[in-house]
Amino acid sequence: MAQSTDLTPLEARASGPLTGPVRVPGDKSISHRALILGALSVGETRIDGLLEGEDVLNTAKSMRALGAFVERTGDNRWLVRGVGVSGFKEPQNPLDFGNSGTGCRLAMGAVAGSPITATFDGDASLRSRPMRRILDPLALMGTKVTAASEGGRLPLTLQGARDPVPIVYRSPVASAQIKSAVLLAGLAAPGVTTVIEPEASRDHTELMLKHFGAEIVTTAEGAHGRRIALTGQPELRGAEVVVPADPSSAAFPVVAALIVEGSDIVLSDVMTNPLRTGLFTTLRDMGASIEESELRSDTGEPMARLRVQASKLRGVEVPPERAPSMIDEYLVLAVAAAYAEGTTVMRGLHELRVKESDRLEATAAMLRANGVQVEIVGDDLIVEGRGHVPGGGLVVTHMDHRIAMSGLVMGLGSDVPVKVDDIAIIATSFPGFVPMMRSLGADFA
Ligand code: S3P
Repeated sequence: MAQSTDLTPLEARASGPLTGPVRVPGDKSISHRALILGALSVGETRIDGLLEGEDVLNTAKSMRALGAFVERTGDNRWLVRGVGVSGFKEPQNPLDFGNSGTGCRLAMGAVAGSPITATFDGDASLRSRPMRRILDPLALMGTKVTAASEGGRLPLTLQGARDPVPIVYRSPVASAQIKSAVLLAGLAAPGVTTVIEPEASRDHTELMLKHFGAEIVTTAEGAHGRRIALTGQPELRGAEVVVPADPSSAAFPVVAALIVEGSDIVLSDVMTNPLRTGLFTTLRDMGASIEESELRSDTGEPMARLRVQASKLRGVEVPPERAPSMIDEYLVLAVAAAYAEGTTVMRGLHELRVKESDRLEATAAMLRANGVQVEIVGDDLIVEGRGHVPGGGLVVTHMDHRIAMSGLVMGLGSDVPVKVDDIAIIATSFPGFVPMMRSLGADFA
């Protein structure tokens, strides 16, 4: 895949104990949704704790281009004055979502319910990612694709429906992005729009839609699935949103503390929505010491303070049905698995192939380059843990922020330093990652 020619490499070296308190930035999923729902509401939405990473800033720009008033009022504080459901105006220029699949796909759903035409674009990584999974259900609701690149990829132009049709959509994949796009389009449709997902995926859209005044009912479907029914054409009212710290970002210091001997760190306000905490469950199964305290859910999503202490880890088997609750965390779990004693088998990872990079191949390459034995069998990833990582290899990021952070975490305990070829992409989701890790004691040079 194309990479920028201006690479910013960084090396991670075996570090002394990581210690101290930190708060990782706001949750990315919730930040995108707060901006989009704020833009689709009437009245003011005040957001506290918004993630000011490139992905979310691109969503903010796009909501502005679609007619909403979006302004930064302080550190991580934002104000949105929305246009109401179906109220978007036609943007003058293509909407550029940079690296962000979530921003782009959710915005497609939001645009689908306004009678406007908009062009969606992104960087080389986003241009390579599948969009039909979103375009197909939106077409059933009346949206038209008037131009697209090969395979229905970006850049593409979407014409929203004047009279969107409510549908019952059985999603072939447990994807919160697909579910959210259909629900956001369903806001503009008369009657009930229903999404059935094979396994429960993160439910931030549902929780936030309720918070903004929509009627939405979730029921169980089969062993692990869910049926979500949204009543269309609600009067969405602007609301206050407090964004908890992102568990997917917390994952990196958590695993770093587990593998660096003597570490003892505390992370505040980490979101603990059970549809996001599969990594913490798995790490605890492996023997990790992760203690939760100060549990609260006064702001709509549960959160807690986490204390993480260095731990001896053992290999485990991670069941496929856990994948949606830790879909972004397999890279860093694979790092933990390499430091564990014994084999870790991670099953059912087909969705990793369509993330910011092919994360199944990228994880295997990252580990192999650093002397760890790893195998891909079908959609399963098998890591042989030897209690230590030789290191000495180069990690190629492929424009994927989570590969860059995982590679740096791996180097904090390795026998020989690990070099990551480009850390600039980390700014998409975790601005301040390098200084924050250094404040804990990480040796990056
Ligand atoms: C997200 C959903 C996930 C995840 C992404 C964020 C969201 O994608 O990988 O980083 O905010 O809805 P899928 O729903 O496509 O699995």
